[in-house]
Amino acid sequence: MKNGIKLLSVLLASVLLLASCSTMNTSESSMSMDEVSAKTAEQPLGIMSAMDVELAFLLEQATIDEVVSIGGNDFNVGTLEGQPVVIVKAGVGKSLSAACTAILIDEFDVSGIVFTGIAGGVAPEVDITDVVISTHVMFHDYGYFGNDGKVAIGTDFVSKVDVESDADMVEEAYEAAVEVLGEDKVYEGLIATGDQFMANAEYVDYLYNTYDVYAVEMEGASVGYVASQYDVPFVVIRSMSDKADGLAHEAYNNWYSVVSDNSGKIVMQFMKNRAAE
Ligand code: ADE
Repeated sequence: MKNGIKLLSVLLASVLLLASCSTMNTSESSMSMDEVSAKTAEQPLGIMSAMDVELAFLLEQATIDEVVSIGGNDFNVGTLEGQPVVIVKAGVGKSLSAACTAILIDEFDVSGIVFTGIAGGVAPEVDITDVVISTHVMFHDYGYFGNDGKVAIGTDFVSKVDVESDADMVEEAYEAAVEVLGEDKVYEGLIATGDQFMANAEYVDYLYNTYDVYAVEMEGASVGYVASQYDVPFVVIRSMSDKADGLAHEAYNNWYSVVSDNSGKIVMQFMKNRAAE
């Protein structure tokens, strides 16, 4: 009799468990379209930089609820202008920024990525303290380097030479930058990325004349390539600390702090404009 009662209770428990599982499945699969878009609206925006100085202004403005450490990076989860964001310093260079991009997408389900920071101006009209918004990004040091010194960047090595930024984010970033700095100081164009601090006028001419590069830096394309693999929209906002020429080191030391803050101010304006929509 005791065994009978035991068997009955096990059976009853199993039936209840099965019933609750099937309710869970039903409620998940029957999520209404409104619920789905509410979830999307809550996805945070990923905001990334390479160095502390490039993020300092934004971290001061943000409300941070939690810091999650993954793979050597601190992901600051919180809000900017009342909107959900994950703000992270990736570190300098292509590999760290690529890894960090994958984590932002995989672990934080970001709706898009804004990279903010500094760069060297390449197009002759792009001066120190001007801003370049990426229409697209490319690697300038990925490809072939022969005995004759010839450098070739081509489709033999990468699936595409460049990757396009998200058109809406480019427009939003451009508008925000113009609001902060004025139209004369803001450009849209190709940003080239490589694992070198560029301080070579001849190479800068080559980048401009061959690819119509506007600015050169060390992370934008690796963020863009990984984001595009996941179909996540991205834009790079870069403020010029130097002209990537023989005087680049001196100029960089004079300007990196001021122009880092300028880039942060543009991201703030970008968030303000989004909040007002
Ligand atoms: N970031 C700022 N200036 C740079 C330069 N000249 N080369 C690469 N990255 C930079």
